[in-house]
Amino acid sequence: MSVPIVRSVAQLREIVAAWRREGARIAVVPTMGVLHEGHLSLVRAALEKADRVIVTLFVNPKQFNSQADLAAYPRTEDEDAAKLAPLGAHLLYAPDGIEIYPEGFATTITVNGVSEGLCGAFRPGHFEGVATVVAKLFLQTGADLAFFGEKDFQQLQVVRRMARDLDIPINIVPCPTVREPDGLALSSRNVRLSPSERQVAPRLAAILFEAAARLTGGAPVEAALDEARSAIAAAGYGRIEYLELRAEEDLAPMQALDRPGRLLAAAWLGDTRLIDNVESRLG
Ligand code: PAF
Repeated sequence: MSVPIVRSVAQLREIVAAWRREGARIAVVPTMGVLHEGHLSLVRAALEKADRVIVTLFVNPKQFNSQADLAAYPRTEDEDAAKLAPLGAHLLYAPDGIEIYPEGFATTITVNGVSEGLCGAFRPGHFEGVATVVAKLFLQTGADLAFFGEKDFQQLQVVRRMARDLDIPINIVPCPTVREPDGLALSSRNVRLSPSERQVAPRLAAILFEAAARLTGGAPVEAALDEARSAIAAAGYGRIEYLELRAEEDLAPMQALDRPGRLLAAAWLGDTRLIDNVESRLG
């Protein structure tokens, strides 16, 4: 069995209209391809909640910070389609570029607040690119539900805020980060790690979990974060872009663990930038 692939909005809308006539509940799982178990877990979650699941595959040029990065981004559509078929995904929407950004395209969606700081501070324009493409994918598919991984926690909040602010009638469903047995969060970037970097990589998650436990136990926030930063550096990571405690609800900075929080970090291991986050709650 294979998954049907659709490349135009017109074709997509015809299929979705037929599903609607049957009364189907439709879910979308937006991706840029290079599917790993994290993406597949989103598809499985979507299949549990919806009658029809559309996986989108579009390498969005507007969310890359450099042309070189965009050019180097792997394209593995055949392998991706082969991974989706056995799960029972109903459609792979892999639009031609012109279907997303037609000639003269001039609209950019900026989500203030939640886009600022964290990754937003280090990747200028990234979340505008994400919000713009995701809004298009929501409107093109007309899905009722959309599934996003908590691994990209800031992205999840940006997408939620955007859908709420624009009254897009879609329910955003967050799904837990999928981890390797040693704790490393799954990411398409993990393949870039050398064998020795791969050994060190899971320390980031371990240190975040340790810091979260310390905060739960009542440790002062700044002290716990400072210790965690030192531990990440001692583990062999290079530049730490950020390590912060933010409110789960709206990503506001937190000086005390007085509501549900997230510890979020981005750090470089050799030439690879890794991000991760864990929840942080009072005991
Ligand atoms: O998380 C991703 O893969 C991308 O940012 C997304 C949500 C598919 C938008 O291009």
